[in-house]
Amino acid sequence: MDVTLTTARLVLRQPVMSDAERIARFLDNFAVSGNLSRVPYPYRLADAKGWLRTWRPDTPPGETGFSIQLPGEGLIGHVGFHNDVEGTVIGYWLAQPFWSRGFMSEAVRGALDWYFTATQADVLASGVFHFNKPSLAIQKKMGFTETGLSSRLCLARGEEVRHIDTQLTRTAWAAHR
Ligand SMILES: CC(C)(COP(=O)(O)OP(=O)(O)OC[C@H]1O[C@@H](n2cnc3c(N)ncnc32)[C@H](O)[C@@H]1OP(=O)(O)O)[C@@H](O)C(=O)NCCC(=O)NCCS
Repeated sequence: MDVTLTTARLVLRQPVMSDAERIARFLDNFAVSGNLSRVPYPYRLADAKGWLRTWRPDTPPGETGFSIQLPGEGLIGHVGFHNDVEGTVIGYWLAQPFWSRGFMSEAVRGALDWYFTATQADVLASGVFHFNKPSLAIQKKMGFTETGLSSRLCLARGEEVRHIDTQLTRTAWAAHR
């Protein structure tokens, strides 16, 4: 969907081809990609361009993604939804220079508020690799609960990694706003 969200410090807008250079710069970092399932390492400009080519302005909410823009700085990350075997999933990453300033909590909150307002969905899935305590902290703060353990391929690591599965119900989302 062609939607732009504004939070206290950030603008969440649709990805565009001119994002490719910053996406490639920030994702070509194992500290980021090693925490994600579907991002290879090393990560090249061609990877970013190929990924951006898949974006369409007319996608449903469950397949919508946002470039996270810090005014005065530019793109600093991404938060997006995709459909998987467990249903609609939220995923996100932030460029390492911007960690630990509450940016991703702010971006995820904005994206969740939009998703549960734009849809009738009762539940949203997510999860973290077992070592990703900051990401689990963000999800718990939003009302996600752990639903089990699984194993997931991490492209950057080239191996299966233990994964904590989580979900957020509409009721828990509303209670944690
Ligand atoms: C994980 C990531 C999104 C965090 O982004 P961020 O903007 O630094 O996160 P925030 O500052 O909003 O919040 C981090 C929270 O984790 C907490 N935290 C940090 N280290 C922690 C630890 N070792 N144990 C427990 N909690 C921790 C912080 O205290 C903070 O919670 P608080 O706001 O309640 O104090 C970012 O580091 C990132 O993109 N990493 C690589 C990709 C990734 O992991 N994506 C998510 C895949 S599931």
